[in-house]
Amino acid sequence: MSRPIPPSVAALVTGASSGIGAEFARQLAARGHDLTLVARRVDRLQTLAKTLRRDHAITVSVHPADLETAEGRAPVVALLRTAGPWLLINNAGFGSRGRFVDLDPDREVAEVELNVVALHELTTAVLAANVALGQGGVVNVASTAAYQAIPYMATYAATKAFVLTFTEAIAHELHGSGVRAMALCPGPTRTEFVSVAGVESLFDKSMPMTSAAVVRSALRTLDRGHAICVPGAHNLLLAQGPRLVPRSALRRVIGTIFAPG
Ligand SMILES: NC(=O)c1ccc[n+]([C@@H]2O[C@H](COP(=O)([O-])OP(=O)(O)OC[C@H]3O[C@@H](n4cnc5c(N)ncnc54)[C@H](OP(=O)(O)O)[C@@H]3O)[C@@H](O)[C@H]2O)c1
Repeated sequence: MSRPIPPSVAALVTGASSGIGAEFARQLAARGHDLTLVARRVDRLQTLAKTLRRDHAITVSVHPADLETAEGRAPVVALLRTAGPWLLINNAGFGSRGRFVDLDPDREVAEVELNVVALHELTTAVLAANVALGQGGVVNVASTAAYQAIPYMATYAATKAFVLTFTEAIAHELHGSGVRAMALCPGPTRTEFVSVAGVESLFDKSMPMTSAAVVRSALRTLDRGHAICVPGAHNLLLAQGPRLVPRSALRRVIGTIFAPG
């Protein structure tokens, strides 16, 4: 399968109020997809929606939701089940850094609820509708963090490992269905993620990419029907390098890099 998903398929983008999600909304609007934008900060979604409606001949709906909670997710799940086909961009997510036992346990649970449970529930909902129609797709945003354990970002790396292997498996199962699934594994990218996760001190040395470059690469790879996209040659090295190193040695190196100062 190597054609773009047609613009007649509407896109729903989670985490569209900032960073990579807002950029997905902009680039999908430029391709002519109608959009539903989901996040908690409704003012930001409305500002983006207004600009996209002005600049493109598309409809844009704003859907405020807290995807960390079952109540927040329910209306989004219902929307995905009733209308379709969809191109779902499961992008909302955050990271936390620190010694696991010292981190706020409620926030760690919220991270799993958002990065894993919400992504899983929304994927389930969208595939039910899409497979029946033989169209559409899902992009699940993982990370290069998915490729190894990260001491001091233990929950984050584990959630992204889930996203990567889950999406890779369903991409295989969907072969021949007309529906595609792709895991997007960005490396460091200039967004609000950096301050939310508390990784500012590590960031500038890591050759960060822009959201625009990440999303361009993601949509090109989705057009080709691939199961995984790692944007940027240096990030491909970050993703594949760990395979060549014993896990114990890798943990020691990464633990030293990520240890809070
Ligand atoms: N930036 C990086 O270096 C990097 C690298 C690899 C992977 N990623 C992944 O890329 C994705 C996007 O992150 P980003 O870098 O664009 O960060 P960002 O600028 O912080 O954006 C995160 C988005 O998630 C939304 N979000 C957070 N909590 C939410 C909740 N409870 N309910 C609904 N939406 C929520 C935020 O919107 P509201 O606050 O308005 O709800 C925001 O739109 C994440 O999954 C992240 O793990 C980022």
